[in-house]
Amino acid sequence: MSTDYPDFGLDAAQRRDAVFAHRYEYPGMDGARGELWCYSDALAYAPGSLVRLMISSSVERAELEIARDGAELRAVLKGTLSGLRWQPTPEDCSVVGCGWESAFEFRIGEDWPSGAYRVSLVAAGSDGAPVRSHHLFIVKPRPGPKPRRILQVAATGTWTAYNTWGGSNHYRGLTGPNRDQYSPTVSIERPWCRGFVVLPAGAPRVPLECQPPPGAPLRYPHMEWAYATGHSTKYASAGWASYDSHFMRWAERAGYAVDLVSQHELHYEPELLHDYDCVVMVGHDEYWSWEMRDAIDAYVERGGHLARFAGNFMWQTRLEDGGRRQVCYKYRARAEDPVYRERDNSRTTGSWEAPETGRPGAATFGLNAIDGLYAGWGGCAARGVRGFPVYRPGHWAFRGTDLSYGDLLGAEGHAFGYEVDGLPYVIRDGLPEALPTGGAPESLSILALGMSSLIEEPRSQADTDDRFIGDEEATYVAELRFGDASEASVDRVKRGCGMIVHFTRGAGEVFHAGSCEWVAALLRNDAMVARVTSNVLDRYLAGS
Ligand SMILES: [Fe+2]
Repeated sequence: MSTDYPDFGLDAAQRRDAVFAHRYEYPGMDGARGELWCYSDALAYAPGSLVRLMISSSVERAELEIARDGAELRAVLKGTLSGLRWQPTPEDCSVVGCGWESAFEFRIGEDWPSGAYRVSLVAAGSDGAPVRSHHLFIVKPRPGPKPRRILQVAATGTWTAYNTWGGSNHYRGLTGPNRDQYSPTVSIERPWCRGFVVLPAGAPRVPLECQPPPGAPLRYPHMEWAYATGHSTKYASAGWASYDSHFMRWAERAGYAVDLVSQHELHYEPELLHDYDCVVMVGHDEYWSWEMRDAIDAYVERGGHLARFAGNFMWQTRLEDGGRRQVCYKYRARAEDPVYRERDNSRTTGSWEAPETGRPGAATFGLNAIDGLYAGWGGCAARGVRGFPVYRPGHWAFRGTDLSYGDLLGAEGHAFGYEVDGLPYVIRDGLPEALPTGGAPESLSILALGMSSLIEEPRSQADTDDRFIGDEEATYVAELRFGDASEASVDRVKRGCGMIVHFTRGAGEVFHAGSCEWVAALLRNDAMVARVTSNVLDRYLAGS
């Protein structure tokens, strides 16, 4: 493996800006060249319903194409839009929504299969080069029993949390007295940032594909690529293009029938889960509401099968205004979330493991983010395992893989990383066992276990200045667990892990490979990861 970081032609100052400058999409950012921006009035639509596209454009005409993005890209609607116009956008559009008027309306065809639909707009820019924009909406399945069909839940809470469009998200923002704080409230009524819907095939993922030599400075190639190519600084952190799409495409090409919903359907229409024998979520899936968890818990209790190939189950959100806004105070929850001061403050939008909430993520999914976290990038296990070290190769999920105790599953496709989920554990007679403090169901078995880190520990002064991940997570978790962020407390929480687990619950069961990058291994045709994925899906679709 190369020891050199990839070079995208940036100088040192640009590389620093790529990581640390607050870069985001905003109306007018491309100046005289011209711009097209688009969002829709909902995340997901039932067949036959009306879709409104809110478009703000510096050009009067644009070509429109809508295509289902699955095993293949299949166009369902094409046309020319005229009469487009530039629409005023409020300064705090990320928080309150853009408030644009509808520019084009159409009905979802009764025969459009459930899935993700890409909206492409293209027009001639003033310099002759095309101006493009992309949007994505979901077509929901019709109600009714769905034998042999998978229901995939897109991680739309995480897309919303990371969306950089307009300047504020749950990570950085233009809010607070100095207009420099992340926003606890973000709107879905704004375009997706550049790179959430479509990406070129070679776009770097977050985990490093090089082995930095000792003493090498910390670098974050994906953000350098984003800077060099005009993509969102968060393109590799969330979104359909980096994560959810890779499962949908792999599964359909492998012959599975897949329907798609957003997380809003879990929140507002939980009954649709019960039409399916197998529900899947993938990628980076970090933000959930209490109601969404209730939906999954009830589904599994009643005999449902949940296959989660995803990482970073971390924050509780609340939905407001009929789902148009997502609320998550995160690190500032106790100081600022008004719900924290209510008599029942379980809905405080912080960590699921916070005592006021007391609903460990592991109770639903078998794993927690705060016992896992970063692997394979920056200063966090950057030279780590790349695959899951296997401890219980006899489990049915590994049938046909030839895996033995101590083998790595998914190292070829780099399945382990970016963010992984874990549990407190002990190793007894060479086998990991979950500790009850993690909140996982008693029936849980740990099949694979690798290491991760909650902290990017500086090895030099240069590192201290150049850390992107830093110690924010470790400090937060130390405070959560021990009430302080002293060196001793941080030391107790900083050693994370990442696991594959399986458990039964009520009449149902859950398989969880807790890594954001599982889908990257499917994308890279990692045969063993594909086999394990199929083993799980086939068993769950058979209803056993
Ligand atoms: Fe995350």
